[in-house]
Amino acid sequence: NKYDFGLVGLGVMGRNFILNVADNGFTAFGNDLDEEKVNALIEEGGDTAKVNATTDNKVFLEALSKPRKIMLLVPAGKVVDIVIENLLPHLDEGDLIIDGGNSFYTDTDRREAYLSKKGINFFGAGVSGGAKGARRGPSIMPGGNKEAYQHVKPIFEAVSAKYNGEPCVTYLGPKSAGNYVKMVHNGIEYGLMQLTSEIYDVLKKGGDFNNDELHATYSKWNKGRLQSFLVEITSEIFEEEDSLGEGRLVDKILDKAKQKGTGKWTSQNAMDLGIPVPSIDVAVSMREISALKEERIEADKLYDRPSVEHMEKGTLEKITEEALYFSFIITYAQGLHQLADASKEYGYELDIAEIAKIWRAGCIIRAGLLADITEAFKANASLPNLLLSPTFVKKVQSTVDSARELVAFGAKNGIPLPGLSNSLTYFDAYTSSRLPLNLIQAQRDYFGSHTYERLDREGIFHTEWEKE
Ligand code: 6PG
Repeated sequence: NKYDFGLVGLGVMGRNFILNVADNGFTAFGNDLDEEKVNALIEEGGDTAKVNATTDNKVFLEALSKPRKIMLLVPAGKVVDIVIENLLPHLDEGDLIIDGGNSFYTDTDRREAYLSKKGINFFGAGVSGGAKGARRGPSIMPGGNKEAYQHVKPIFEAVSAKYNGEPCVTYLGPKSAGNYVKMVHNGIEYGLMQLTSEIYDVLKKGGDFNNDELHATYSKWNKGRLQSFLVEITSEIFEEEDSLGEGRLVDKILDKAKQKGTGKWTSQNAMDLGIPVPSIDVAVSMREISALKEERIEADKLYDRPSVEHMEKGTLEKITEEALYFSFIITYAQGLHQLADASKEYGYELDIAEIAKIWRAGCIIRAGLLADITEAFKANASLPNLLLSPTFVKKVQSTVDSARELVAFGAKNGIPLPGLSNSLTYFDAYTSSRLPLNLIQAQRDYFGSHTYERLDREGIFHTEWEKE
């Protein structure tokens, strides 16, 4: 009997994903060069009629039912190409390869074009939710050939997370649509993480919140409109004791954030598209600034900082909750705006409501807010920006004043709040019918004869600005 599903790369994600497939009644076969990983999976799987594995490519491919459905959960980059080349001689027309990693979208386009010439269907399918998600139900973002997707659809729908019984997976669009959506998901992830850490900083410095109070505050928020995976895990982080010493672990962790590139790619591509995503950009910049720890220590000695005035705990808790809610909305708005534009630019034909829908559970950016976002785009599929949705006007209008208050508090007291202030500035600029960029046009025309348009009449104008 042939196996329903194949998976290459039996690291934590791969092993968990394959066990999840088996839990849902499909038979699955794993492949990895590492014999230990192969044996570990066979042992954990229990029954080799359901879950089996091998180090041998040929054995692996012969074991799969056709069209073969082979998922790759290997590191993004060269490894994906190597694995594809190893599989290729033994594949048949109509087989599917699904890259579940965080591959760069143009790599996916290249691989898809290359493989489709050989009759092989190549999918880029972002998988979000970490190791736990892979085991219990991730959010899956597949893109590729629509007809071929039908072969893998029942398996993906079964293994994915469910929101009110609805699977957190759907066919998103052709070519690299899936990887692109996952990339922006991660950009939003960077933004939300930056914001939750800024609020932590303010509560600590401006309100003397200790770890127990931080835990209590984030837990309480997680029961309200800020309910989200990131707020939930943040509340738990504050509780964790340091197993290697006294006190809480969070206080012992080096404040240098690493990154694997997906947030940076989101920002870079947003720049290419001409779509502003400043809340994401600054989240990337802050990871970069954090990495300059030694320079920061030096600089800290050179400059005075204002002594932080204190805000009453209750007041601070209220305005931080509102500011965080406000800036979460702004960050989702920017990411979704980028998706809508990329969809036109790259022909992805994305349905934003469907994307918000499959983000409601399973993924890292899952949040109560996504149910409202889904509704907003269902009500108007061509909404250019979430900020133009009538239901969101109320949410934003009622919280923006707290964002203003907090940004001012941060500025006055020397607490860096770049995610929050960029979100606020984005909001203020996006909602301004008149910006001072008329002056930039005048300057451009002054020094470079770049011409300008006028408010009051049609046409292209140039002025001889310099008087003799
Ligand atoms: C997910 C995560 C996952 C990964 C991030 C980490 O959706 O499950 O986004 O893909 O944990 O890519 O990214 P950084 O290492 O760049 O923070």
